[in-house]
Amino acid sequence: MNNTFKSLRFSVFTSSLLLLFFIASANAQTAASGPVFRLDGGNTTYAFGVNERGDLQTLYWGGRLGPHDQIPPAHSYPEWASFDSPNTTTPQEYAGWGAGLYTEPALKITSQDGNRDLVLHFVKATPDGPQAMDILLKDIAREIYVTLHYSMDPETGILARSASIENRDKQPVMIEQAAAAQWTLPPARYTLSYLTGRWASEWTLNQETIRPGTRVIESRRGSTGHQANPWFAISRDASQSAAGPLLAPEESGEVWFGALAWSGSWRFTIDETQFDSVRVTGGFNPFDFGYKLKPGEHLETPVFYGGYSNRGLGGASRLLHHFEVAHILPRAPDPKPRPVIYNSWEATEFNVTEAGQIALAEKAASIGIDRFVMDDGWFGQRKDDHAGLGDWYVNPQKFPNGLKPLIDKVHSLGMDFGLWVEPEMVNPDSDLYRKHPDWVLNFPGRPRTEQRNQMILNLARPDVREYLEGFLDKLLTENDIAFLKWDYNRNWSEPGWDQLPPDEQKQVYVEFIRNLYAILADLRKKHPKIEIESCSGGGGRVDLGILRYTDEVWPSDNTDPFDRLSMQDGFTYAYTPQVMMAWVTDSPHWLNFRSTTLAYRMLSSMQGSLGIGANLNKWTAEDFATAKRLIAAYHAVQRTIVQGDLYRLISPCDGSEFSSTETVSHDKNQAVVFAFTHSTQEGRGYPLLQLQGLDPNADYQLTWLEGKAMPGTPQSASGDWWMSHGINLDLRGDFRAAAFRLDRQK
Ligand code: GLA
Repeated sequence: MNNTFKSLRFSVFTSSLLLLFFIASANAQTAASGPVFRLDGGNTTYAFGVNERGDLQTLYWGGRLGPHDQIPPAHSYPEWASFDSPNTTTPQEYAGWGAGLYTEPALKITSQDGNRDLVLHFVKATPDGPQAMDILLKDIAREIYVTLHYSMDPETGILARSASIENRDKQPVMIEQAAAAQWTLPPARYTLSYLTGRWASEWTLNQETIRPGTRVIESRRGSTGHQANPWFAISRDASQSAAGPLLAPEESGEVWFGALAWSGSWRFTIDETQFDSVRVTGGFNPFDFGYKLKPGEHLETPVFYGGYSNRGLGGASRLLHHFEVAHILPRAPDPKPRPVIYNSWEATEFNVTEAGQIALAEKAASIGIDRFVMDDGWFGQRKDDHAGLGDWYVNPQKFPNGLKPLIDKVHSLGMDFGLWVEPEMVNPDSDLYRKHPDWVLNFPGRPRTEQRNQMILNLARPDVREYLEGFLDKLLTENDIAFLKWDYNRNWSEPGWDQLPPDEQKQVYVEFIRNLYAILADLRKKHPKIEIESCSGGGGRVDLGILRYTDEVWPSDNTDPFDRLSMQDGFTYAYTPQVMMAWVTDSPHWLNFRSTTLAYRMLSSMQGSLGIGANLNKWTAEDFATAKRLIAAYHAVQRTIVQGDLYRLISPCDGSEFSSTETVSHDKNQAVVFAFTHSTQEGRGYPLLQLQGLDPNADYQLTWLEGKAMPGTPQSASGDWWMSHGINLDLRGDFRAAAFRLDRQK
């Protein structure tokens, strides 16, 4: 009942109110109240206010309210017996740890004199444009200030939040825990969705009912990690019952979601409090954290983005995709669809030579590849993964005349050239390590753990940063390189930084990542045409922080086309297909020994940003013809696929026999549909596909990229027909695939 009322109310407001609205005054509220602040964008309203104690208190986050609607002012919640003071029962926007706070704090500090109490009260609000504002908070006694930044995207309603913590006191303070933001949802029953994985198995979507207590999702690894990704979605259970459904609906219901823009150790805590409210706190991982703020210094947290949709997880991911394309990516708001690449890693591994790469480049050009990328093995004494990292000169045995002959050849074939690098790493067997053994993360006198025979250069150090930036700049200045695949193939161990006094060494968690971002930003400034991929042994460094500086990511080293279907499904809950690189590689696949047809492999990869990573030397004439035909078909609809509205029609997860996706261009002029079978049993046909998101009144013409429909399917029909009647595919058998496009008829 409540839900029905809410969605009715919502649709009335959204259809009639498109103006952005922002109130930052106490005037609109009753005299007894503190100020109320409100941000509106897309279908969302976010509001908070100052209660009678001076706390900044969350008031509302959900569907967009009417412009004249009053938001009840903040009143601190009462004490719950003598065990939970108002400080704990009241949902604060950014809670300091002090005064008996038992829920998760946003900020915890220790002053040099041992004082650990922090109670933040409102000082002032400063509007910063029509949908943005800064809120200044201050400790009740000490000169510790926190500025909360708020900025809402008018189109998607996605709110960017971050905090700046400043020490204006006369003594240093140690920050032990600092969140970017805390989010409070209304009391209800919820399902949490989050992404986990491991190497070669990233992007598993997990869903579970949120129960009282705390759920932690995190990375302690120094980087984003394969094991969990800094994204969450929380769906309101439609049934509202304690035994409500576990799985969150894909295309209906209310969803609150968030993503942290940080590529270092991070943590989300999802609390269901004793008072049934759900709070999400996210930012720097407090594990092993410590950031000393001297008088006059400040610490800026990463940005935590949060959004709301009343169209299920599908609606939530479409908002995120649009936001990423329009606001996060380096070439936002209009990044070009990615070039179709060829990469020889799986074909040759480290065994790259000038002649071998040229032979592959010629074949790649013949099928319509746009960009040829040379992977690992071209530099230093790199024969395998035991040596060479850190020595970024061209290997003279493999490339006696440098990279120029290969690059010139690639250009003459009509492609641009890309190169693999792994700048933050060093093999102990390298000139660099022999010269600068102190440059790696380490604790003096302790063993230095190797992973893949390599260590991590301490990028927080100014000299290391200078070295990295220097060699990368030289590489890009001396060679005509359009693209870098920037790899990062292990996680941290022994994260010491002995250049600094002991109580400042943990700042490595922040300064390393800041320097990484700074190098990427500098390189892009000096070489404005360069494009960069974030890779970390697959999908170990994918987040909204790195995506500000990189044009695409490598979701996984696992290129098995069937495994990729579920990984791509999970990936798209958080990230746009625009950045989701997907290579077609050899069959049987090296990981699962699964055999699939080239058409199946092509269609699996065509759901994202297509690349070819197969050994072209082994291809038949028929393979070349198939790839050429499908690359041309892909080029013609790529923008719709990677930047359109994505509908996950049938999930490939949980042993599903089938899967299907549809993307619709923003103007609804075109839709592209992919369909896959895992296996068909007992002669069952492919499920009816009822499409979504089309213009019901327009007529759409059907064109097959691969496969066919059941006899009697019209060549052209209305959006209503495709969405309501639906289409039956003639698709049976194991690992089969089909794809078609619909184009609006003028
Ligand atoms: C990582 C990457 C691979 C490849 C290798 C090269 O594993 O994810 O794609 O580049 O490194 O060593």
